[in-house]
Amino acid sequence: MRKIEHLGIAVKDLEKSKLLFAKLLGHDSYKTEEVESEGVKTEFFMIGESKIELLEATKENSAIAKYLEKKSEGIHHIAFAVDNIEEEVERLKSEGFEILNETPKKGADNKLVVFLHPKSTNGVLVELCQDIS
Ligand code: CO
Repeated sequence: MRKIEHLGIAVKDLEKSKLLFAKLLGHDSYKTEEVESEGVKTEFFMIGESKIELLEATKENSAIAKYLEKKSEGIHHIAFAVDNIEEEVERLKSEGFEILNETPKKGADNKLVVFLHPKSTNGVLVELCQDIS
């Protein structure tokens, strides 16, 4: 894995949180993107070499909606940049990690993404992401 690509933060109100994080970081977000298939709307901020991804649910049964129901707003996942997502999935499987989606899916910000089950990663939802070239 190369670096922390982004931290995903679950929020209830994207418009409000967008303003809050712009104030916190001292600069505006660089993109808003809806991922229809995941039932989520995202807002991205650059911070050095990494990003902050704010996530708001757009559907009642989306992963973010369920998360907010059970927990509260806050850090939802940590995403690591990888060069070859298939290779990394194979490596992690052989190390005993539980993969949530073995076939990479298209995520926000032009990425292929795979998630690891938090029960195999100390309670942390881990995302692997590879740039779509
Ligand atoms: Co993410």
